[in-house]
Amino acid sequence: MLEASQVGLPRHVGIIMDGNGRWAKARGLPRTDGHKRGAEVFELICDRCADLGIPCVTFYAFSTENWNRPPTEVAAIMDLLRHWLKKAQEREVENARKGIRLRFIGELEGLPEDIQSLAQDAQEHTRTHSRTICNLAVNYGGRLEILQAARHLAAQCQTGERDALTLTEDDISAALYTPEYPDVDLLIRPSGEQRLSNFLLWQSAYAEFWYSNTLWPDFTAAEFDRALADFARRGRRFGGI
Ligand code: FPP
Repeated sequence: MLEASQVGLPRHVGIIMDGNGRWAKARGLPRTDGHKRGAEVFELICDRCADLGIPCVTFYAFSTENWNRPPTEVAAIMDLLRHWLKKAQEREVENARKGIRLRFIGELEGLPEDIQSLAQDAQEHTRTHSRTICNLAVNYGGRLEILQAARHLAAQCQTGERDALTLTEDDISAALYTPEYPDVDLLIRPSGEQRLSNFLLWQSAYAEFWYSNTLWPDFTAAEFDRALADFARRGRRFGGI
């Protein structure tokens, strides 16, 4: 099995699953069918990450701005999450064999209560799996994440637990939703859009971006591998020369 450190694989891949609505529209289907197919592709790519031994992958499933979509579409995405989380319970043995650990980032308290509890169960049951963290960003906003971290640190400064003048970048990283994850190495956005859309703003400071015109429901493991091969060829300087 290939390991991230051996072949220049990214330690953390961020994926913006975009283009579901356009995929459905092109087929005369309701937008929700695009999300349904998108959820299947999400599983496929998560498995591919585990096959390859990529330590961490974060999928953007629902942003804090996505609440502005029609209620039926929001409900359909929540139903997909619910369904997948219930299925994850049934696939516990398979997840253990593959070494997939499930995690969630975002304001989970804003989600329907049953999804919160299913998400907590999934995190608990897969806690010891150590090959790949499959991280879902749900009700997630990058600016909100930074704001929450700032509030947390400010409160600690107020009580005297910390000194504002000695705060470091590492202190901010540690106060985010992702304290134990490496920064994003590779950021993939299909569907022709070239925006970050409030996704992992702090963690993507030195990410390599990879775009394609494929709509997410048509995205394949082969295309994912092409993104990885491209990433492996890039020279990263992190501001140096
Ligand atoms: C963006 O495409 C996609 C979303 C806002 C939702 C993504 C959600 C899923 C793929 C399903 C989540 C469920 C699981 C189990 C992970 P868009 O709708 O904005 O596409 P468009 O730009 O073509 O309209």
